[in-house]
Amino acid sequence: MANKNIIAIDGPAGAGKGTLTKRLCEHYCFAGLDTGSLYRAITLCMIEMEHDMDNINLEFAIELTRKLSDTHKILEYAKNPQIRSQLTNKYVASVAKIPEIRDIMRQYQVDFGLNPPNLEDGRKAKGAIIEGRDIGTVICPDAPVKFFITASPETRASRRLKQYIDQGETANYQDVLASIIARDESDKNRATSPMRQADDAILIDTSLNNKEETFQFAKKVIDEKLKIVLE
Ligand code: CDP
Repeated sequence: MANKNIIAIDGPAGAGKGTLTKRLCEHYCFAGLDTGSLYRAITLCMIEMEHDMDNINLEFAIELTRKLSDTHKILEYAKNPQIRSQLTNKYVASVAKIPEIRDIMRQYQVDFGLNPPNLEDGRKAKGAIIEGRDIGTVICPDAPVKFFITASPETRASRRLKQYIDQGETANYQDVLASIIARDESDKNRATSPMRQADDAILIDTSLNNKEETFQFAKKVIDEKLKIVLE
């Protein structure tokens, strides 16, 4: 029977979606999908092929996405730490706004929700958490639990700067802030599947709560909404 325990988590860059998803997946034995890593994987592959990222050739990008997806190579690229480099960050929103690329990626995400893969330790997943920008609105509009996670651009830029430094990259706060704001604008204003809080999504501002408070709040909502299925 298709899985119905689906949690959709959307929100802008650096809001804390990944941290919350990981914690919730561990707690509930759910499989997690970071959909941003798929768009990042395509972007990284194009960069490695030395494609002119300032003038993306649509036909090339779509064909490459199809190949990466059909051969499952996209999942290998998604594991490459370079998907989080500043260069990938710079171009990922331009790749993610191409409607045909979103279309190819859509089915994979829907299938993950309906048939979540086993957990890394081999246990069967009890549900799925999918995080991205359009999960609650386009990919899983019927998900029984939806969150929209946000934080001020300044808070998000400080977190991202720390991640770059921890990764060994050099970066400065003003550039990181500008890049986050530019990506927010592109994600919110694109024609296809823009980033938007679904009407039935619960808003969490992580500038106001620490990681533990955010987790506890989300857990309370999930326990309440998925009461019957989790028992
Ligand atoms: O990690 P971070 O919050 O910076 O972003 P991400 O979730 O890895 O997503 C990277 C980019 O992929 C976003 O800025 C979007 O342009 C795109 N994306 C998208 O369009 N739709 C999704 N469901 C997920 C990501």
